[in-house]
Amino acid sequence: MRTTVGIIGAGPAGLLLARLLRNAGIDSVVLESRDRAYVERRQRAGILEQGTADVLRAAGAGERMDREGLRHDGIELRFERERHRVDFPARTGGSSVLVYAQTEVCKDLIALQLKEGGPLLFGAEALAVEGALTDRPRIRFRHEGHEGHEGHEGDEGDEGHEDVLDCDYVVGCDGFRGVARKAVPAGLSHVFERTYPFGWLGILADVAPSHDELVYARHDRGFALLSMRSPAVSRLYLQVPEGTEAGEWADEEIWDELERRFETGDAWRLERGPVTSKSVTPMRSYVHEPMRYGRLFLAGDAAHIVPPTGAKGLNLAVGDVVTFARALTHLGDTGSAERLDAYSETCLRRVWQAERFSYDMTTLLHRAPGATAFDDRIQLARLRRVATSRAAETDLAEGYTGFPLE
Ligand code: APR
Ligand code: PHB
Repeated sequence: MRTTVGIIGAGPAGLLLARLLRNAGIDSVVLESRDRAYVERRQRAGILEQGTADVLRAAGAGERMDREGLRHDGIELRFERERHRVDFPARTGGSSVLVYAQTEVCKDLIALQLKEGGPLLFGAEALAVEGALTDRPRIRFRHEGHEGHEGHEGDEGDEGHEDVLDCDYVVGCDGFRGVARKAVPAGLSHVFERTYPFGWLGILADVAPSHDELVYARHDRGFALLSMRSPAVSRLYLQVPEGTEAGEWADEEIWDELERRFETGDAWRLERGPVTSKSVTPMRSYVHEPMRYGRLFLAGDAAHIVPPTGAKGLNLAVGDVVTFARALTHLGDTGSAERLDAYSETCLRRVWQAERFSYDMTTLLHRAPGATAFDDRIQLARLRRVATSRAAETDLAEGYTGFPLE
């Protein structure tokens, strides 16, 4: 098998990249180790920056997003039983965000790819990227023998079949646990990492959101977030100690704790409903530099992780693949590899702004174990600063609605 761009991973990064390349007349093959149902159900964040929504729209993937996505013009910060609204358009010259879940973005992109795009193989696990410094890099992969692999049908039950995909370029969109990054020699890889001594316990509940915008709450007992998936489905999170298992919390205990952390001095009430999903997300900041090694490019979670407090993961992934697709198109149009050569530096400038913002939001709102009374006072002073200074509020609003693509 051979293609121009071999893409490992069918998360938001890989799927959107395949779509952008197809629109530019460049062929690609996407290899995804899991099955379609898994990719379409995995719960992640659901906030699209305006620039991200614009990219999806321009790629022809915005139809359902524009029908079902919820435009949000602000968020609420809650601390010491007070509520402070950050007005995005007022502070940013008109920007807002769209609430549209990652699962829905993936469903839309998969449907388009299967209908009009190049090959998208599920159950195809990349094992290694080879020859990144040659002009013919390869992906060695194992597949289960369906989706276009005639001759292997009926072989289910064994370990699958090994195959090779020859490419002009390989893009590793295979997430934090992927294999692409491993092809960069250890001596050239620089990893910048920070873990946080807490995680998020997230639930989905069949109940209308108790507020029409997201609520980020700082409380002495820990952080809480109220988000949503639709006018009838709430998404809520609680800060929990590192290592917590979702099963340790009964549904009613979760609601009781959410109620405590969201408590206000006014008549606001948290509505409860049946919990349909429960899981724990670890918190980590991580950047792998460089994001390019020869003809291997890393994009999305394969290159960087942000803690979810800033809702930046998907937006960063979109920025990376747009940068790659534009650079490759530029090479085709002009013969100049200048933009492709600048891929890593270009992406990393934006990545580090998002890392900084996500770190700020995380430390602004979470209670770290062992935090002192001094730490608490500083945290509250930072929150009051956002609530009373137009400059501080503008900084938060600009970060949340997104950093522009270069
Ligand atoms: N071979 C093939 N596919 C692989 C391999 C492999 N060896 N390893 C991982 N994958 C697949 C995973 O199964 C997954 O579907 O790569 C995909 C990576 O997807 P994500 O983890 O969603 O990463 P990315 O596309 O970069 O997502 C960007 O979107 O919703 C947000 O928070 C999410 O920050 C993340 C962002
Ligand atoms: C979500 O809806 O899952 C969500 C929203 C905002 C965040 C993180 C997660 O900051």
